[in-house]
Order: sequence, then C-alpha cells, then structure tokens
Amino acid sequence: MLIRDHWQLNPDIDFLNHGSFGACPRIVLQKQYELLQQLERDPIQFLAPERELEPKLDEARQTISNLVNASKSDIAFVRNSTDGVNAVLSSFPFEEHDEILVTSHGYNACNNAAHHAAQKAGGKITIADIPFPLNSSADVIGALEKKVTSRTRLILIDHVTSPTGLIFPVEEIISLARAKDIRVLVDGAHAPGMLPIDLTTMAPDYYTANHHKWLCAPKASGFLFVTPELQHQVRPNVISHGANPTRSDRSRFLTEFDWTGTHDPTPLLAVQTAAQFMESLYAGGLTELYDKNHEKTLRGREILCDALEIAAPSHNSMIGSLATIPIQTEQFCRLDGTAAPAENLQKILFQEYHFELPVFQCRELPTACLRISMQAYNEISQVERLAEVLSQLKQERNPRV
Ligand SMILES: Cc1ncc(COP(=O)(O)O)c(C=O)c1O
Repeated sequence: MLIRDHWQLNPDIDFLNHGSFGACPRIVLQKQYELLQQLERDPIQFLAPERELEPKLDEARQTISNLVNASKSDIAFVRNSTDGVNAVLSSFPFEEHDEILVTSHGYNACNNAAHHAAQKAGGKITIADIPFPLNSSADVIGALEKKVTSRTRLILIDHVTSPTGLIFPVEEIISLARAKDIRVLVDGAHAPGMLPIDLTTMAPDYYTANHHKWLCAPKASGFLFVTPELQHQVRPNVISHGANPTRSDRSRFLTEFDWTGTHDPTPLLAVQTAAQFMESLYAGGLTELYDKNHEKTLRGREILCDALEIAAPSHNSMIGSLATIPIQTEQFCRLDGTAAPAENLQKILFQEYHFELPVFQCRELPTACLRISMQAYNEISQVERLAEVLSQLKQERNPRV
C-alpha cells in the first residue's frame, strides 16, 4: 500500500496544502466514527464528564503530554489554536496603555485577536517587522528587540509561521522576554507532528497548538498549555459549569476547559489513534517522519527556486514541512482583470492544472508568496510538475524570456 492510500484525498488533485487544514487518514476517521457510534448509543454515559468523558479526555491528554513533554495537569483542550490564543488574550489582565507585541509573519486571525484584546483594555498592538526573505533567526530576534518597550506585557509569537512557513527561535524569544518580565504566548498551530516540541525545556508561559494539522487528527482538535502559576488566570472563551466547581479532585483550569457546553469530543478522543498512526509510518517513528518531510520540503523549495531563478528565501534550518517562495505573480498570470494577481495565479493552478496550494499577497509582507506543504503522502514529483507548470506559464506570458 502506498503511503498516500492511507488518506482519502482526491487523486485528481496534487494536494500541496496540508498546512491549511491538515488532512485526516482513513484509520483516524474510522476511529472517530466508532467513537461517535458509542456516543450515540448512550449520550449520557459518554458525555457526562464524571462518567466516561473525563477518563477518556485524560487518555488523550496523556498522548499530548508525552508528545510535548509537559505535565498532564498543564494541558487543557481547545477546538483549535485560534480558540487557545483567544482564551489567553481575553483572560490576560491588560491595563490601559499596555502593548502586545506581534510580528509581521503572524497569523492574521490571531493578530486580530491581539488587536481586539489590546483595544478593549485601552492598549495597542505593536508589530515587529520581520523581513522576508531573511538571513537567519537573528533577524527575528533583532526585529522583536526593536519593538519591545516598557509597556510591552505580552509577546504573541508563532512557532512555525503561517504565511512564510518559518520555524521561529521561540526559546531565544522566551529568554529575551523573561529578562524583561514580559510573558510569551506561543502559537504552535503547525508544530505538533512537524517537529519535536519540548515544553519543559522551552518553558513558555502559554503554548497552544492544533492536533488537526500535522498530527492528522480530526478537525477541530487542539491543546493549550499554561504554566501552573498562571492557570488560575486563564479562562476558556465559553464560561460554563466549571466556573463554580464543587470538586477537589481536579483543577478549575481542567474542569473549565473540559466542558464548554455540549460538544462533539470525538476529534480530541481520536488523537491517540492519529499520533500512533503517524508514528507507525516509518521504522524511525515521528523522528523519521519529521526528517523525511523536512528533506522533501527543502528539495521541493530548491526545485521551485531554481525554476523561478531566485535564491532560497531563508536558511534551511528555519524550515520544517512548509516552504514559502516569494513570487512575482504578474510574471505568471494570464490576467483576466477580475482578480488580484495572487488569487488569479492560485485559481489558474487549481482550475487548469489541478494543484491545491496557497498563492497570496500578505498585507504585512512586501512580496506575494506561494507556499508548499510536504506531508508523508506528498511526493517530490508533484513539485517537479508544479515547477514545470510555472515555467510554462512564465514562458506564455513573457514569450521572449
Ligand atoms: C500560526 C497559525 N495560527 C493559527 C492558525 C489557525 O488555526 P485554526 O484555524 O485551526 O485555529 C493557523 C492556521 O493555519 C496558523 O498557521
């Protein structure tokens, strides 16, 4: 069986966009379906927290706690990273004139959440302008240092950036922040299943991430780690029964996040199957998966950069399983005048050549970008075909080039 046959992705499409929403393997969907059937056979038994739900959630918590090397009691579940980021931001004791430092490579939705939280408190966000292309992770630190002020209370930083697919030096950023008594919220949306995470060594104040991207769990499934001293301050986005707990056997942090009203917990409960499946793909387990995806991504980036005649936009060490390439979209588009060039190129690549991948103009970045994702089911031949198509489009538009 080929690796890609474990997924039910449309074989007519070269799917190079695992990064946006992930893709769930058949075996994981099957597990989720079985869980749903169990749930519907006796909804009370399954969903009443103190009957089956809490023990089941605690098993899932153990899976994540092993994956990220953190204590089980410090891991709450959320629907996704956006949910985790919002919970931290809306609970944070901001005061008037406080600043939240975000970056120009940050995920728009989360930067919006930071803006909203700051504005409500009478503060503001400041944006560290990180270049792209960039030379090394020192450029990230330098850009952040320039924007730290005596009013900075929180830094929101991506572990792996969404538009540029770069692994940021989170440990160094945390040291920088700690020295200035600033808290750090790491948005690790892409990290689980893409790279090793050790929260004990990293020691962030808050770290949230998705299981449904690179770990290939069902959507919507994620976690929020909060360092023990701050757990009393962090509340979920939905306040429910856990706000006035009568229990002494479980922290309010866990009780509140475990129950935010009736919901479908099966995406969370299938995370163990997802992690085991991804671990089983190669003899070397997750380490081999990370390495193989990383090598394919670097090779894919090289093929595209060669075809576009540009230099690699970042050092190889900042790459995991995502690679973003700056692109002059107008060189490649048969412009129809109705869409922005980036959207237009994406449409052409999808509709005419059956590639699924993002091509976008990011508001905060000086260049349009094209991003590839390389998951276990991707093959380098897919990127080779993409490079050929881009060269062909460029030739058509610029016949004398
Ligand atoms: C850095 C980052 N944060 C947050 C998200 C949002 O993920 P979700 O929609 O699952 O909350 C993404 C999605 O791509 C992301 O890349």
